[in-house]
Amino acid sequence: MPVTVHLFMYALLTALLIALAAALYRQRQFAREREEDLMSLLIALSSLMELRDAYTEGHCARVRNLVAMIGERLGLSKRQVEDVIIAATLHDIGKLGVPDAILHKPGRLTEDEFSFIKRHVIFGSSALTSIHRFRDVINMVKHHHEAYDGGGYPDGLKGEMIPLGSRIIAVIDAYDAMTSERAYRHSYTPEMAMAILAEGTGRQFDPEVVDIFVKLLKERPVSAVDPVCGMPSDGLRRVRHEGKDYYFCSHACMEAFKKEPAKYAGASVSGMGM
Ligand SMILES: [Fe+2]
Repeated sequence: MPVTVHLFMYALLTALLIALAAALYRQRQFAREREEDLMSLLIALSSLMELRDAYTEGHCARVRNLVAMIGERLGLSKRQVEDVIIAATLHDIGKLGVPDAILHKPGRLTEDEFSFIKRHVIFGSSALTSIHRFRDVINMVKHHHEAYDGGGYPDGLKGEMIPLGSRIIAVIDAYDAMTSERAYRHSYTPEMAMAILAEGTGRQFDPEVVDIFVKLLKERPVSAVDPVCGMPSDGLRRVRHEGKDYYFCSHACMEAFKKEPAKYAGASVSGMGM
């Protein structure tokens, strides 16, 4: 083959490879942008849910951070961790279908009212059924109130029959609820909340998930524990107060700290105390 033809073939092949690489890059970029758009939409949606249910402000963001860390620790794939994060963001979306008179009732709920609230897992999972990307997410949302011993709802699933994502969300959701302030009670300290989780291990909660969660909290430096809610911070939000750095899991917690640093600064020193 003449050298010029050889060179021409080589140049053509190189050009084709460059074009292919550029197309792949564009495709990946597009997929990444779509994923980012999806997460932004989910975060916008969870903010709307938090407006309706004011006491959960910051709850979804904190739960998202934590489930991601636990999912990675359990060796889930990137896609599986993403699914758990999405499910953690949307797990209570069905509460939009529960009337205010029940959702915000200050007193004790009647049996019928409690049965209605329980339906939020069905409302939520049904609302997502048409989204193909959410095949696994739907199950996690539907089963986030199942108990490890089979005593939960809606289907009374037991142990590993419960989707792993739901078992992770159940632990983190309970911990965050206990360590958040409520209109009718003060928040539990992280130590009390962890003790309650330990009590529910094997009965309500997956022992492996609780075990990993406890280790995760123990491993993180005290300064990385959010002094407002006691959750591990992702290290992205920092406030310097009296020569010490404080880290927060969400914007809401950071703002709460800025308003009353003296109230929370001491709490961080003890942190999880473990
Ligand atoms: Fe729920």
